[in-house]
Amino acid sequence: MENRIRHWRRARGLSQQALGHMVGLGKPTISKLERGELRLRDVTIAKLVDALGVPAGELLGDYASGASGPQARRGPGGARAHEPNHEPSREPNREPNRGTKTHFGFRAVGVEEKARLVRDVFSAVAPRYDLMNDLMSGGVHRLWKADLIDCLKPRPGMCIVDVAGGTGDVAFRILDRAGGAASGTRVVVCDANPAMIERGRDRAADRGVFAGIDWLCGDAENLPLADACVDAYTIAFGIRNFGRIDRALAEARRVLKPGGRFVCLEFSQIVVPGLARLYDAYSFKLLPALGALVAGNQAAYQYLVESIRRFPDQERFAEMIAAAALGNVRYRNLSGGIAALHSAWRI
Ligand SMILES: C[S@@+](CC[C@H](N)C(=O)[O-])C[C@H]1O[C@@H](n2cnc3c(N)ncnc32)[C@H](O)[C@@H]1O
Repeated sequence: MENRIRHWRRARGLSQQALGHMVGLGKPTISKLERGELRLRDVTIAKLVDALGVPAGELLGDYASGASGPQARRGPGGARAHEPNHEPSREPNREPNRGTKTHFGFRAVGVEEKARLVRDVFSAVAPRYDLMNDLMSGGVHRLWKADLIDCLKPRPGMCIVDVAGGTGDVAFRILDRAGGAASGTRVVVCDANPAMIERGRDRAADRGVFAGIDWLCGDAENLPLADACVDAYTIAFGIRNFGRIDRALAEARRVLKPGGRFVCLEFSQIVVPGLARLYDAYSFKLLPALGALVAGNQAAYQYLVESIRRFPDQERFAEMIAAAALGNVRYRNLSGGIAALHSAWRI
């Protein structure tokens, strides 16, 4: 009998192996489930519903509901994922971060628990965070961050908040591009983790940057900033760590001045055929091992891999930005969709 697991797995940009990791099954089992060769047990259905973010009836298709044809089964977010429509969604939000439940990697947890676990991850890796970034990406994260700066086009005198700014990588680049502190440019790095900020301050001192950057410890979902106070809001590799992405986006809009720019760099879903398999092997096998070797923390890098897989794909995330009433949402894939750069305006 036909089910819709393959359809939704592909719509979410997941390989069979990645979905298998998410639900604790091997690739051959996922393959058999997709072909309807295995009976779906309730516990497996629950895991698949959780992993793919679609209701059971939608997932089971003909298998359970008897509905026919893809149009009859258009799920919120999922079917829209391939439509270039960034109007705010009036359909119910089925994102995993709604309410008090969210995910820490593949595990369902409460939002408070996620905040604590994420804090533990970054407290543990802070001393080796920048080195690991270079090793993991072969330095490519630097090119992606340069793309973010090109997209932002910071000008002298601007006030910009870099949320989840960590050790200051993006802030240093913004300040450099805008002409340094003497140009009147001000960057506020806001991050929830004191250890990451501490590391950022040390880096600033090492570079002789004593003005132009303010370091603020604060939560992206409740920014310690006034309404309409910044010209731009940037965030790099931070948003997938949040428990309530919709709240963080609402906060982005609140602190932006009308006409202000939102730019977000985040890991995303591979769009180049063939690359996904390689990337899966690299991320599920090599990355955690590298984390263990260099940062002494395999679990933190396992979380990194899982959190990337759980994050909405390019189109779904664009919809979430639009749903936060930010306008003119666009995105660009970087390195075949390994990362994506989303931008929008507060209109
Ligand atoms: C992967 S690091 C990114 C750091 C930096 N933006 C970069 O690109 O190198 C993610 C950062 O998000 C921060 N973070 C996680 N949850 C947060 C929250 N709720 N509010 C603010 N920052 C948060 C972490 O402390 C961490 O520094």
